Amino acid sequence: MSNPNEEIMKAIAAHSNLGSYDAARENFSWQEIERQFTWSDTGRINMAFEAIDRHADSGLKDKVALYYSDDNRDESYTFGEMKRNSNRFGNVLRKAGIAKGDRIFIFMPRTPELYFALLGSLKIGAIVGPLFEAFMETAVRDRLEDSSAVAIITTPALLSRVPVGELPSLKHVILVGHDIEPAEGRYDFYKEMEEASEELQIEWMDREDGMLLHYTSGSTGKPKGVYHVHNAMIHHYYTGKIVLDLNENDVYWCTADPGWVTGTSYGIFAPWLNGATNVVRGGRFSPQSWYKTIERYRITVWYSAPTAFRMLMGAGDEAVKEIDLSSLRHVLSVGEPLNPEVVRWGMKVYGQRIHDTWWMTETGGQLICNYPSMDIKPGSMGKPIPGVDAAIVDDNGKVLPPFRMGNLAIRTPWPAMMRKVWNNPAKYEEYFRLTGWYVSGDSAYMDDEGYFWFQGRVDDVINTAGERVGPFEVESKLVEHPAVAEAGVIGKPDPVRGEVIKAFISLREGYAPSEELKADISKFVKEGLSAHAAPREIEFKDKLPKTRSGKIMRRVLKAWELNLPSGDMSTIED
Ligand code: WT7
Repeated sequence: MSNPNEEIMKAIAAHSNLGSYDAARENFSWQEIERQFTWSDTGRINMAFEAIDRHADSGLKDKVALYYSDDNRDESYTFGEMKRNSNRFGNVLRKAGIAKGDRIFIFMPRTPELYFALLGSLKIGAIVGPLFEAFMETAVRDRLEDSSAVAIITTPALLSRVPVGELPSLKHVILVGHDIEPAEGRYDFYKEMEEASEELQIEWMDREDGMLLHYTSGSTGKPKGVYHVHNAMIHHYYTGKIVLDLNENDVYWCTADPGWVTGTSYGIFAPWLNGATNVVRGGRFSPQSWYKTIERYRITVWYSAPTAFRMLMGAGDEAVKEIDLSSLRHVLSVGEPLNPEVVRWGMKVYGQRIHDTWWMTETGGQLICNYPSMDIKPGSMGKPIPGVDAAIVDDNGKVLPPFRMGNLAIRTPWPAMMRKVWNNPAKYEEYFRLTGWYVSGDSAYMDDEGYFWFQGRVDDVINTAGERVGPFEVESKLVEHPAVAEAGVIGKPDPVRGEVIKAFISLREGYAPSEELKADISKFVKEGLSAHAAPREIEFKDKLPKTRSGKIMRRVLKAWELNLPSGDMSTIED
């Protein structure tokens, strides 16, 4: 069978010692990957050292590690400068008494300071919780409270969303801004950085020591703190090579914010572990500014999400014609189903196949992918990467044959796998309830050539514009609104965002349905929780369908929405 990507495949084989898919699978060993790190002898490691200092101490010292631009700033930093800035920040934290194992949150827009702070925190062994800047007070409080965070790095503009007085563990607030009034436990980032030394004694970690807490939503309960360890670097380094196809000559752009796992695993670690130049574009999305970013930096590898590609598609082919995108050689997608139509459009206007990749916050790294040496089937997430075993299993863990739909499951373990759910061992165990498997919560089938096809979630988790939203969190916020008696939240299919959030609401006595009230309720969630979690659509109902035990049946709401039969109603209240 001819492989249209022969050239790229050869290139990969040359720098990663992997040949064809089958050969690579057969010859694969994680130990082989591990041996490429110097720490494989000592067992003591630090992600920030491997990603930055290793290059800063070698031939890549003066190579640009980070290009940053937004509407007001335009900067670049070499690996040497990244090392010095993250060292300084590590010293700032040490001086404040923050130490290995402490949880510290970074809640600020994507700017170079965020990257110095994150790397500096890892260098002293702290466990970092990156928070998306759109989070509002409830979302921030839930996360800091759950993890007993001792410090937060934020900006003066975002500080009002951090309920400092209600968080007894939170001792230090580091403010990235100007004219900061120093006070007890309050620090001026720029002043502290200036005073700190550029030399830092790195905290050497064990492979299984904590590195990151990424909070994510399930269908029930508050967001869970998914805990990742330094060992994940093996996975990030390897997938950076074979899936992103990165090498030291690449200029790479991952469009995700570090508040989401894509923005750390593949926006920080994978590119820098592989010595690539990383581009970060601050500010809001617009087709023009995105295309200009690719043109200006001559980006070679680009990792984004279906919603973004659909928006770019919506902006029209004309927008592309005025721009030179000839530097692009590899384009990838993650986060939600990538429509075959988008893949075909990408081939037409970018001359590039958009490579879908599948993974989750919990998996820490890519697992099922279309990588350059494979033939793409538009609409499929690809195949398990060498070193990973995936299968479709039934609810008892029995492996199903091709074309049968079931639970998408991964054989445990793999290097970037989460190691716990913070404070919640029971939740963690749920993922591993079928012996030997990690159960993803996605349903899918595998075809007779081993390609996996996404079908949906088996739970009520909503995926809007690639961002994961737990209906429970939104419902909890909704019922805090004075007019809302009960609320049930579902994902409603949407051509651009995949799904949008729709809330069914019954009102309290004395409130009448109106468009103003809908707008007010939506604003309430937007300002209390976060913009991406706010319902775009609200429907008032006299009563919501509930089980006899009082749980709102989202399944029935969904059936109403889609005009489907409501299924088994035997547990409904009346
Ligand atoms: C959920 C995980 C880590 C990537 C960012 C999202 C959905 C992810 C795909 C894909 C269809 C996908 C799944 C998964 N998802 N990638 N290629 N095709 N669906 O991470 O927020 O943890 O969400 O996103 O439903 O379970 P996340």
